[in-house]
Amino acid sequence: MKFASDNNGPVHPKIMEALMRANEGAVPSYGADDLTAQAVEKVRDVFEAPDASVFLVPTGTAANALILGSLTKPWETIFCANFAHIHVDECHAPEAFTGGAKITPVGSDIDKFNADELKTAISAFNPDNMQQSGLGPVSATQVTERGTLYSLEEIAGIAEVCREAGVPLHLDGARFANAAAALGCSAAEMSWKAGVDAVSFGATKNGAMAVEAAVIFDPAKAVEFRRRQQRGALVFSKARYLAAQMDAYLTDGLWLETAAEANRLAAALESGIAGIDGVKFAFPRQANMIFVWMPRFVHRALMDAGAYYYIEAGKLQGDDPHEPLLGRLVCDWSVDEADIAKFIDFAQGAKP
Ligand SMILES: Cc1ncc(COP(=O)(O)O)c(C=O)c1O
Repeated sequence: MKFASDNNGPVHPKIMEALMRANEGAVPSYGADDLTAQAVEKVRDVFEAPDASVFLVPTGTAANALILGSLTKPWETIFCANFAHIHVDECHAPEAFTGGAKITPVGSDIDKFNADELKTAISAFNPDNMQQSGLGPVSATQVTERGTLYSLEEIAGIAEVCREAGVPLHLDGARFANAAAALGCSAAEMSWKAGVDAVSFGATKNGAMAVEAAVIFDPAKAVEFRRRQQRGALVFSKARYLAAQMDAYLTDGLWLETAAEANRLAAALESGIAGIDGVKFAFPRQANMIFVWMPRFVHRALMDAGAYYYIEAGKLQGDDPHEPLLGRLVCDWSVDEADIAKFIDFAQGAKP
């Protein structure tokens, strides 16, 4: 009953096999190998963007920080949602990699902002006022940190505001595949066709061991990326092992297959706990993450039975058995359906 994170699951066997196949003989290092060229080409194919600059990096934080570093001057501000990973979960990596840019949270919701809220946030800055921040990129997260989605229309609306303000739009796509599978759209439709300039394209949470692609559609915006990557100590010498993962991830639609499976498992978990007394969903489940209020006694019964997930608001210890606590439940492709059934049984059978 492990629902703490889609980072907790194993590497997909097809990706592990690809790593084993890549583990033969000597090949050029630092990305000069054939497999890296092939994987980069596959990313371009999936995004229908033959000219895009693509870099393989080991973590989502690296993809975000290096892309934002390439798009932002030190005196500019990056706009994002209140709970954006780049704002609250990366220990200032974007600020460090931009040389000190500031982050400006947008809107009142914690997971998403809309085009009007972005317009308001941007209008608070006067680009002629040298005492204020300059306008920098906008970063939206898809799937959001609360498991919700931006529709393609919402992304296009945000992109329109970016275009008017003359700033680029970045998508933190740590769960890009889960979003594409849920929306039933192509990678191109959810990115450059909607006006997105750069994507952190995740794979690690969806079956890889450790690889993400930084995709920058206009190569002119990517000229500094490689130097920043080197300076940030994020260039793998044995790049073939990053490439092998991304290559397998994008072969025969594996990336969408694992994402659709993760979404399906989360939907099953959601519908199993939906009818339980005192259970209330904090956000609509739109992909593979569930944020749910459940009484303390239900959480306790689950944890006592060996369930493992995060409590996002409230404490497991406390006197009132009925006090609602916010749980975060995440599925990846590898979750066992028997564990979902067990979890639902324990939640249903919990007694105050
Ligand atoms: C939305 C989002 N972006 C970026 C990241 C960063 O990924 P990593 O932990 O690989 O640096 C995460 C990881 O949890 C995430 O949820």
